[in-house]
Amino acid sequence: MNNAISIKNLIKEYPRKGEPPLHAVDDISFDVEQGQIFGLLGPNGAGKSTTIKIMTTLIPPTSGTVLINGFDVVKHPLDVRKSLCVVFQENALEVYLTVRHNFLTFGRFHGMSAAEVEKKMDHVTELFGLREVINQKPVDLSGGVKRRVQVAKIFLVDTPIVFLDEATTGMDTFNKRATIRAIREESRRGRTIVLTTHMLEEAEELCDAIAIINHGKIVASGTTDEVKKMGLQMFYLSLKFHEMGKELEELIQKFAPVKLDIVNNEANITVREHNVALNILSLAQSSGALKHFEISTASLEDVFVELIDGKKAGPSA
Ligand SMILES: Nc1ncnc2c1ncn2[C@@H]1O[C@H](COP(=O)(O)OP(=O)(O)OP(=O)(O)O)[C@@H](O)[C@H]1O
Ligand SMILES: [Mg+2]
Repeated sequence: MNNAISIKNLIKEYPRKGEPPLHAVDDISFDVEQGQIFGLLGPNGAGKSTTIKIMTTLIPPTSGTVLINGFDVVKHPLDVRKSLCVVFQENALEVYLTVRHNFLTFGRFHGMSAAEVEKKMDHVTELFGLREVINQKPVDLSGGVKRRVQVAKIFLVDTPIVFLDEATTGMDTFNKRATIRAIREESRRGRTIVLTTHMLEEAEELCDAIAIINHGKIVASGTTDEVKKMGLQMFYLSLKFHEMGKELEELIQKFAPVKLDIVNNEANITVREHNVALNILSLAQSSGALKHFEISTASLEDVFVELIDGKKAGPSA
């Protein structure tokens, strides 16, 4: 399988006055296969945007190698740029041009003729519900619609690699879902997508592979399933009772669960071993008052919290 992206020992230091430099990215390595949806996850200040900016040639690395579509970002920046399109975290729209002219400008930058952009624009405005605002200027649009215009642009062009830094931030659920569907469709067509997100459920649903970064270092990487399995084994029980007595609560407490929340005859329990989960379920069943139950394993969010370990986010110096 060809790697669309290959990063080896990437370091990015930002100089600081009177202090040692800030290691925003601190020796990270990862590969992204062609056609994959790859998620870069991490808390605020982890180094996600810095990594995206280096991969898209906006800023140079301090050291390490970054190959995009086989081209080195330092040695062949133009070839790298021709291989990609990007939605940065900060809005990058011409706010005084209409949405239509933003699309045209973007397409022309990517070497398309005006006629080619026009041809694709219909489909894209439909996909992102932008028909009504096509002749308006972003300066007059709400934050969520502006974001949609930004994201819509990547569907106008056909570059093999797409970078999305917090693409769905500020979108409502409906538009978020439409965007997720569209991103998935692009990956099926063979485009490689690299995204950052704070929405772990979104990453879990969308990404084939992920890297979790914290303080500029990778703390976990692999397929989304592999990363989920890296978390400590955790099982979640949700038990709903017709009536939940104090005795039952005390009996459950005896299993020393990691977490036990009881509200309105509903118990949410976290345990580390699956036989403990089954024993609690069997106890609940024998009470005769059990109305509904669910057992699930750790979500990406649980693993994330476990790996980041509640430490204050921020890069190491
Ligand atoms: N141009 C810069 N000059 C100096 N420090 C910077 C610069 N850009 C980013 N940083 C610092 O580098 C660290 C990593 O920032 P970065 O924007 O990459 O994080 P992030 O993971 O994208 O965070 P967020 O989730 O908040 O978007 C932060 O401490 C940030 O303050
Ligand atoms: Mg960022």
